[in-house]
Amino acid sequence: MKIGFIQLAPVLGDVRATIQKIDQLLHGCEIADILVLPELCNSGYNFVSHEQAYETSEEIENSIFIQFLEEKCSQLNLYLVSGFNERHKEVLYNSAVLIGPGGYIGRYRKLHLFMNEKDYFTPGNTGLPIYDIGLCKIGMLVCFDWVFPEVWRMLALKGAEIICHPSNLVLPGLAQKTVPIHALTNRVYTVTANRIGTERELSFTGLSAIANPTGDILIQASQTEEKVEVADVDITVARDKMITERNDIFADRRPEQYFTTLFTAKA
Ligand code: ACM
Repeated sequence: MKIGFIQLAPVLGDVRATIQKIDQLLHGCEIADILVLPELCNSGYNFVSHEQAYETSEEIENSIFIQFLEEKCSQLNLYLVSGFNERHKEVLYNSAVLIGPGGYIGRYRKLHLFMNEKDYFTPGNTGLPIYDIGLCKIGMLVCFDWVFPEVWRMLALKGAEIICHPSNLVLPGLAQKTVPIHALTNRVYTVTANRIGTERELSFTGLSAIANPTGDILIQASQTEEKVEVADVDITVARDKMITERNDIFADRRPEQYFTTLFTAKA
């Protein structure tokens, strides 16, 4: 199957302009089964105020951005994962949504908020859902979740074969180094769709990437270019957790010991 990302700079506060960019990027791009878009793709990222975060948010049921993604998925027989500034009962969540050829499927709300996101968003309350789309099982994480290995492991233990990772990364190179290691230690595919460009004092680092279950980067974008990239992957590799002929990385875990301390060193 073919999985990939759309690296672009969403336009802060102008969802129609962002839709136009995505439409152009999808026009004539390589055919894919699943594509991932960046974090907060319907709104932009670096809000000047809570009001701006609120005004640029949308309800899932009433979103022109999601309607557009649904049209594209139906036209192109495609699954899309996108970051989404979600308003639900007047509360904002930094979410990722999964859309398929039949329409909206589900969401994940970012658990670990970064810096000023704490001023605008409520930490997620959806847990870590897995979506079985028939072709494969998908998990979603958003940007700063990269620094918490627990959530990558939990998704993999729940059966995720591809972890889609909409991002607006600003710390140069860190997630780009770390996420392929999450792919390796969990033997899953990862797709980080990062954004590019600058919003006021924040510059976003691009270098969106697809990693395979041995931690190799299959495709990486540049730091500056708006681009769709697609890799052909064998999903059965992500179902095989044997790292040697005698080591199943999940079956060999010893969780009953992880919180136990029998010997404590004296100072
Ligand atoms: C981030 O979580 N947007 C860095």
